Amino acid sequence: MSKLQSTLILVGSPKGKKSASNNIASYIEEGFNKNEVETEKVFVTRYKKPDKLKELLKKASESELIVIVAPLYFDSIPALTIRFMEEFSIYKKSLPKTQQKLMAVFNCGFPEPYQNDVAIKICENFASQTDMEWIGGIAVGMGPSVETKSLKDAGMPAKNLRKGLDAIIDSLSNNETVPPEAIATASKLSLPLFLVKFIYAHFVNSGWKKRVKDKEIIKKMYDRPYDV
Ligand SMILES: Cc1cc2nc3c(=O)[nH]c(=O)nc-3n(C[C@H](O)[C@H](O)[C@H](O)COP(=O)(O)O)c2cc1C
Repeated sequence: MSKLQSTLILVGSPKGKKSASNNIASYIEEGFNKNEVETEKVFVTRYKKPDKLKELLKKASESELIVIVAPLYFDSIPALTIRFMEEFSIYKKSLPKTQQKLMAVFNCGFPEPYQNDVAIKICENFASQTDMEWIGGIAVGMGPSVETKSLKDAGMPAKNLRKGLDAIIDSLSNNETVPPEAIATASKLSLPLFLVKFIYAHFVNSGWKKRVKDKEIIKKMYDRPYDV
């Protein structure tokens, strides 16, 4: 069977390079490159101007596979990524039909991966509007846990994500059908949800406490003046 020819990995985070999306995108890129599939990773933030956006639309239309890797913003997709999707839908109508595939990876702040479901459905609809084959959507909970680390160094919390992505990348590289189990594995938390919630609350609380530098404010932090 023929190999996948080209892949565009679109990092849809407004944070650009310093984002969980970029860390996930880099892992995907390395996986494809290991399989000798040509990739280009682009940051949507670098294509804001109309001329640059046109360049991105052209790149996207020439890729056999597009992978959107983005964060969840307000239960949806960040504005710049939505803009790309809207413009690409219009742009594609002016082109002859080609075989293209779309996959999406969304990461959110909350631990539950299902928070990303609506964003993934929007991408599935985008694939159907633009005549792309929908490969599937990966929902990553607890995104900030991979914001400052590469996926390889993220240890146990990213175990399922790495395992699922490895299987997905291997199937896509060989133009084989992606097993739904691989998508399910990549979207499954590696630890039980109750434990993740507990650990998460601990880190989030200590993060907020660190931000409160004034000792006088710490004393007042638990005040409930309007409690009845
Ligand atoms: C403006 C804004 C809106 C967000 N909305 C949500 C949300 O609706 N649900 C959620 O779980 N996380 C939400 N988050 C958290 C991000 O999805 C989370 O921090 C993610 O890991 C950021 O990914 P990135 O580093 O790739 O940008 C939001 C963050 C920001 C800055």
